[in-house]
This record gives sequence, C-alpha cells and structure tokens, in this order.
Amino acid sequence: MAGNGDTMGAQTVGHETNLAGRTAVVTGAASGIGAACARRLAEDGASVVLLDRDERVVEAADQLGGRGLVVDLTDTAALSTMELNADILVNNAGIQHVSPIEQFPPERFHQILTLMVEAPFLLLRAVLPGMYERGWGRVVHISSVHGMRASAYKSAYVAAKHATEGLSKTVALEGGPRGVTSNTVCPAYVRTPLVEGQIAAQAATHQIPETEVVERIMLTEPAIKRLIEPAEVAAAVSYLCSPDASFVNGSSLVVDGGWSAR
Ligand SMILES: NC(=O)c1ccc[n+]([C@@H]2O[C@H](COP(=O)([O-])OP(=O)(O)OC[C@H]3O[C@@H](n4cnc5c(N)ncnc54)[C@H](O)[C@@H]3O)[C@@H](O)[C@H]2O)c1
Repeated sequence: MAGNGDTMGAQTVGHETNLAGRTAVVTGAASGIGAACARRLAEDGASVVLLDRDERVVEAADQLGGRGLVVDLTDTAALSTMELNADILVNNAGIQHVSPIEQFPPERFHQILTLMVEAPFLLLRAVLPGMYERGWGRVVHISSVHGMRASAYKSAYVAAKHATEGLSKTVALEGGPRGVTSNTVCPAYVRTPLVEGQIAAQAATHQIPETEVVERIMLTEPAIKRLIEPAEVAAAVSYLCSPDASFVNGSSLVVDGGWSAR
C-alpha cells in the first residue's frame, strides 16, 4: 500500500488533491480518528508524519508512504525542545476517564490535561514559526461536542476540550494575519477504540448493562441516532485544510448530529 498518498489514491476516492507539497503532522495517528485523518490528508496529496505512543504508528505511516514517530506526548520536556516542521498540524491525540469528581484520581486529571492541552500548545510552539515564515499553515484541533457541552463524570475531558476551543481561537487571532488558520472539529460519539473502551466504565458508573450504553447514554442527545465514522471526521479536517476554507478561522465545525442544537 506504500505510495497511497499519491494522486492515484485521491482519484480513486473521487475528491480533489489540493495538498501536494504540504507536510501534515497528525497526533494520535495509530488509531481511530487520527489514523483516518492521516489517511485522508495523504489521499489529498500531503506528506504525512504520524505521531503516537503506540508502536503501530510506524506501520500505519508505512501504509501511507509517510513517517511514523513513536512519542509519548505527555513527555513535555521532550516536546519543549522538539524540532518539527509542518504546514498542517492536526492535534488529535486524546484519552478519556469516566468517574465522578470526588473519585477522580488527580494524577489522571493531570495526565489528560497534559496530553490534550499542554502537548498541543508545545507542538504549536514548534511548528508555528515555520508556518509564519512560509506564510501558510493550517491547524486543526480535534475537539468534541464536549468542547461546547458538558457531560457528568467527564470533568478532565470536558475541561480539556473547552481549553482546546480557547487555544484554537487564540492561534486563529495570532496566525490569521500570517497565513495560518486554526479551527476545531467537534464530533459527537465516533466509532473508535476510545468509545469502545468507555462502554464498560459508562455501564458501571450509570449502573446499566453494557449492551445498553450506546443507545441509552451515547445516542440520547444527537438527533441522528448513529455513531459517526472516523472517515467523516477526517473529511471535515480535509475541508478545513482546503482552499474553500481559507477564510474559515477560529471556528468550530460541529459534527454532532444535532446534539448541541438543543
Ligand atoms: N471517539 C469519539 O467518540 C470522539 C468524539 C469526539 C472527539 N474525540 C476526540 O478524537 C481524538 C481521537 O480519539 P479516538 O476516538 O480516535 O481515540 P483512539 O483511542 O482510537 O486514538 C487515540 C490515539 O491517541 C494515542 N495516544 C494516547 N495517549 C497518547 C500519548 N500520551 N502520547 C501519544 N499518543 C497518545 C493512542 O495511542 C491512540 O492511538 C481525541 O482527542 C478524542 O477526544 C473522539
């Protein structure tokens, strides 16, 4: 499958190649939404660099003709001195923990905020100077409907996603005059290992059977009663990196089936 990021791949799926000559860095790209984003941006013509703590990232990158780097994004000391060149940065890596606040382990709260707020900030610090120098950059943060709305038992995640929204808007203001846009994509529940891994914890916390979690917890709010596919989120990211979106800056592209319309 090497070389999938060429024009032929894009023609196969029938959308315009517009990122030839651009380098895209995607975090958390060994799995789920990050893997789908890396694939889609490669199909759009970008050279992709995949970051993940999971070693499967190397194989995922090989399949796209890209580069895979095994890195723990909570290692902030390493990120502070990291040299990274990117025209596109997709801050995607994230984790979840479901627990009432009074039982929420403080070290887990710290880990979630480090991974989902501080690491994106440090990566921005690394890539923005190059984007400014070249006068072009696209930053996309995978936020969530939880960047707009809260859910009980997800204090760290909801706090982190609200922070993501603020960070993205700040980049939009600083980067806009220099050719760099920053936006978020806010999905409801996407069919990925992160969601599958939540089912047992949600069942225990809400005291319902695991078989009922998707319908009774995850699909109560969206007006469209299905999980989103990772490729649909990746399509939103692709749009935000396309020429059609060049004036879209500091916005939140909500892909939540109507959840936040309430
Ligand atoms: N799945 C959903 O329903 C959903 C909904 C809205 C937003 N999101 C967001 O999308 C993003 C991706 O989620 P996903 O569902 O694809 O999850 P996932 O678990 O499938 O993938 C997350 C990836 O991040 C990597 N990662 C975790 N900790 C890391 C660390 N310390 N250093 C480097 N990599 C690390 C994991 O190894 C994994 O490959 C997250 O930010 C999540 O909050 C997911």
